[in-house]
Amino acid sequence: MATRIFSGIQPTGTLHIGNYFGAIRNWAALQADHDCVYCIVDYHAITIDIDSKALRAASRAMALDLIACGIDPKRSILFIQSSVPEHTELAWILGCITSYGDLARMTQFKEKSAGRKFISAGLFSYPILQAADILLYKAQGVPVGEDQVQHLELSRRIARRFNARFGEFFPEPEPIVGRGARVMSLADPTQKMSASAGEANTIGVMEEEPSIHKKVRSAVTDTGLVAGEEMSPGVANLFEILELATELSGDSAIVEELRADFKAGKLMYSRLKEVVFDSLMGVLRPIRQRRTELEASGKVEEILAEGTKKARAIARENIARVREMVGL
Ligand code: TYM
Repeated sequence: MATRIFSGIQPTGTLHIGNYFGAIRNWAALQADHDCVYCIVDYHAITIDIDSKALRAASRAMALDLIACGIDPKRSILFIQSSVPEHTELAWILGCITSYGDLARMTQFKEKSAGRKFISAGLFSYPILQAADILLYKAQGVPVGEDQVQHLELSRRIARRFNARFGEFFPEPEPIVGRGARVMSLADPTQKMSASAGEANTIGVMEEEPSIHKKVRSAVTDTGLVAGEEMSPGVANLFEILELATELSGDSAIVEELRADFKAGKLMYSRLKEVVFDSLMGVLRPIRQRRTELEASGKVEEILAEGTKKARAIARENIARVREMVGL
């Protein structure tokens, strides 16, 4: 049997190029020879104060975005987390074998809770729900960006603890981290690109072309050019994005040329930015085209209903076994 893959994404409303290069394109590639389950994690989204009126639409919009990016509902299971309530049931059980200390160490909690007036218990226990998502499907591989690796370590720890306490059941899920696992913000290249850092910090996969152009043109680089000097974080990030974009188009000659110019101290950043923009649009245009077609076809509800049916069948079987093992 093929290896089971699971991954999730929050329906934040903006699928950005960090999500795409860091995770989603790997999700798509893994479909070729794995049994993939992909989830839009709306239960995770409500750990912070979100606009409830917009959430349902955002979850459906994310489904369209993912399909446009190459997630094929004929090959993979695609569904919205809250349509399979077994996720929260397993999260409760796993929460009872997870320590406060395990959760308090999570750097993402520290980042996400900093400066908030109201810090929900849900935000704190979020990594337990993430472990439940993965373990509910007994997934072995989890394609993610670098910021999720610590959560994955905790998922493995939880799996080990469950197995030691109740008997061998869950595989220990391994992160699958590829190139592009940490795309940085163009406006502040010392920070990772993140929807929660605000719109200026992200480049949306579906964002209007002139807006992307403006953001790329005004990307922070550095002030002066000295031959042989190390790259600033901003220039390194532009090269990283360029490499990721050209990897897909196969056009690596331009990257070599610009790197050589940089070494020789004669690279014009305005040129680098134009090339980054063109290459990026080369990747994004076909995705947008597919997105428009898909939306017009009106099939997303049907696709998600089918995904829910398949996901729930697996979830029900596994949760029944877990209940039995735990003595419920
Ligand atoms: P989320 O929704 O923040 O991000 C979705 C995926 O995109 C990756 N990513 C990035 N990769 C590279 N550079 C960036 N700047 C960047 N920003 C985001 C993330 O690493 C992630 O892979 N907790 C998860 C969602 C989740 C999940 C799961 C993931 C819930 N349950 C189970 C895997 C398995 C999250 O908030 O991802």
